[in-house]
Amino acid sequence: MLPFSQFDSHGRLQHLITLEGLSNEQVRELLDRSQRYLRRPGEMPARGHALEGITVGNIFTEPSTRTRSSFELAARRLGADVINLEIMLSSRVKGESVLDTIYTLQAMAVDVFVIRDAEPGVGQFVAEHVQDHVSVLSAGEAHLSHPTQGLLDALTILQFKGGFRDLVVAVVGDVRHSRVARSAYQVFSALGVGELRIVAPDGLMPEPAEMPGTVRFSSLEAGIAHADVIMMLRIQKERMADAAIPDSKDYFARWGLTRSRLKLARPEAIVMHPGPMNRDVEIASDVADGPQSVIRQQVTNGVAVRMAVLEQVIANRNIRRAGR
Ligand code: CP
Repeated sequence: MLPFSQFDSHGRLQHLITLEGLSNEQVRELLDRSQRYLRRPGEMPARGHALEGITVGNIFTEPSTRTRSSFELAARRLGADVINLEIMLSSRVKGESVLDTIYTLQAMAVDVFVIRDAEPGVGQFVAEHVQDHVSVLSAGEAHLSHPTQGLLDALTILQFKGGFRDLVVAVVGDVRHSRVARSAYQVFSALGVGELRIVAPDGLMPEPAEMPGTVRFSSLEAGIAHADVIMMLRIQKERMADAAIPDSKDYFARWGLTRSRLKLARPEAIVMHPGPMNRDVEIASDVADGPQSVIRQQVTNGVAVRMAVLEQVIANRNIRRAGR
């Protein structure tokens, strides 16, 4: 068996499991496509016909508000049928395997599986077993990968900063357990961010060999000094033993992004957070809702990015089917 690839035999994206290995051009193409789906505030959302006749299946075994809703909206706005499998009401509870679930839905002509799972490797495993015309898109894999989040974060920075090369970007908080941070690292590496900082308490730092080329800080104040972009992360309690979970008040006192700490960054710095936020734990409420916050724009951009990714894998499938 050939090693797994997200790309088809012509080098076109078939699945999106990770941003690792995507080139600058491939990321730029997805960002360009996403920008076509952005609208000004108050305008009707973008729509299209690129997914007419296509069925998208959302299979989430971990909770989600943003990713699941935006994949569903993205698919519907491009004309697809959508099913959302309620895992706790599905036959998985009766012992049906992941693959039998996928084969069952594939037999109902699901063309794109959107998968979030707490177990590493599930997305790739499914991608290795589906039919050639089917695509698998990761909606978050354990602590490892959240590729559409990485793309929407890059799109947001492009929107507010116009580029990447001259920027200092600080990723702050529970980096160790964060799939958002890993996908951010991959997409920022492809795009050539000027300086990427990892800012975390010792216990929440990634392994030393991870994220080469970044600059590590174990002080929030030093890590955000003169930064252009501050990306705050939630403590991923669901991936930690109870004993290791920091006390919320202590954490906020040392690691919370407050208005006074934000003054250490560049005056025009933007504040990002993938959500869900824990207000007054990693980020003060008045910073989350303040003038430098672009958190809601990240959510808006998530729909555009997911439309672009869906459109791209279906366009590539149509090229494969036409034998070009
Ligand atoms: N950012 C993110 O993945 O949010 P959800 O868990 O709500 O999808």
